[in-house]
Amino acid sequence: MATQRQTSQQGDGTVAAPGDDTLTITDNRTGQTYELEVSEGTIRAMDLRQIKASDDDFGLMAYDPAFTNTASCRSAITYIDGDAGVLEHRGYPIDQLCERSSYLEVAYLLVFGELPTTAQLERWVFDVTHHTFVHEDIKQFLEGFRYDAHPMGMLLAGVGALSTFYPDAKQIDDPEERYMAAIRLIAKVPTLAAFAYRHNMGLPYVYPDNDLSYSGNFLSMMFKKTERHYEPDPRLERALDVLFILHADHEQNCSTNAVRGVGSSQVDPYSAVAAGVAALYGPLHGGANEAVLRMLRRIESPENVPDFLEGVKNREERLMGFGHRVYKNYDPRARIIEQHMDEVFEATEYNPLVEIARELEKRALDDDYFTSRKLYPNVDFYSGIIYEALQIPTEMFTVIFAIPRTSGWVSQWMEMNDDSEQKIARPRQIYVGERERDYSQIGDREGPEKIIGPPARRPKRQRRGA
Ligand code: SDX
Repeated sequence: MATQRQTSQQGDGTVAAPGDDTLTITDNRTGQTYELEVSEGTIRAMDLRQIKASDDDFGLMAYDPAFTNTASCRSAITYIDGDAGVLEHRGYPIDQLCERSSYLEVAYLLVFGELPTTAQLERWVFDVTHHTFVHEDIKQFLEGFRYDAHPMGMLLAGVGALSTFYPDAKQIDDPEERYMAAIRLIAKVPTLAAFAYRHNMGLPYVYPDNDLSYSGNFLSMMFKKTERHYEPDPRLERALDVLFILHADHEQNCSTNAVRGVGSSQVDPYSAVAAGVAALYGPLHGGANEAVLRMLRRIESPENVPDFLEGVKNREERLMGFGHRVYKNYDPRARIIEQHMDEVFEATEYNPLVEIARELEKRALDDDYFTSRKLYPNVDFYSGIIYEALQIPTEMFTVIFAIPRTSGWVSQWMEMNDDSEQKIARPRQIYVGERERDYSQIGDREGPEKIIGPPARRPKRQRRGA
């Protein structure tokens, strides 16, 4: 808490000295000086409230649309240094986790904060593996969607629906209920995802296969046909597991902010995670991997890259898969994905779109328009090319992102609930609208001539004798 040490008036009379962890702010409107405590590179926004222009003044607020410079929480889950291109989960560098860990082990690390022992991992994997089934009623629920419903819309609805099957999850402080919610969400989201895909394809649902790994089981639920037992290609199984690790968590991104914001009302974790799915759906966030593939297809060949980049510079296009709010250097995840592409192509068809992607990257990183804006490839730039090589349709790319991000959302939700500083999220605003207007009768209103909304459809003329 800051102390209002008015160096020119009362207070303890001490004066701030260079080297103190304080900010001395002089309000030129009143001549008053305030000292605000600086801790962990921040000031507390509430310490601004004491700065008033008059006694009845509400006090200063910080204005920060989209929270570009606002820390909303203290977290120990993921560390990112955007300038250095560093990403660590609970202190472990992402490249080491990709090389040596598995997705379920990383999920355990995110949720519990430490790498598991053999016994802990065995129990965790057993519990996730044995909770992959969803209630049979979910199948009827999914049948209500059109055949061409976007799978992210189906996943969004499916995750929200899970909250109705596990009402005890509302006891958010019960450790057992929290553990089961974590297990069920991590276990069932791949099943919901695969069911959405099978619904789109008009194929029967494939039930989980407990003899397969987490990634292998997902491939089985997606692609199994008439064979008795689906055998995933180990190279693809591993590539998918690495992609799951790379997408597991990313500190306070848009969808995690949504999960924390919705979760702050003390709603159950399924409903909070459904909010994360909704946020991830957006093309500026998780939807970017789908948008990258559409962009590469529109470019058609590496020869067209210079013209396309001109369009971007003229702001007619956005270079999807480039840029990041935090990374002002190469997203380390993009580099790891790019390195895994050749392995995947050994086991699948070569994807010619990679030539276009690599030409885009080469030319963009050699162009001051992009480097001056610190626009580098992000996690979404190459991931879609691998998903396509795995025969995953474009509409499913963001769904694949949501599967591993579920463990990040769950861990962030748990951390938020355990943080005594957190309470219901309720930002303030700068009101810029009208004030104190008197109601007017409709006949007295001089409305704008333009009628809002699409042109009214005239009722079809009845044909004579119809
Ligand atoms: C993810 O937050 C996370 O951690 C997210 C994520 C995670 O793991 O959760 O990493 C996953 O969402 C990755 C990002 C995927 N989105 C895209 O690839 C979509 C394309 N990129 C962007 O639209 C954009 O870069 C954002 C949304 C990612 C970041 O936008 P910011 O931080 O709000 O930056 P900005 O829009 O203010 O842009 C700064 C400048 C602007 O130029 P000027 O107007 O100042 O001249 O850079 C330009 C922008 O026009 N710019 C781009 C661009 N991204 C930014 N210009 C062309 N192409 C782009 N992709």
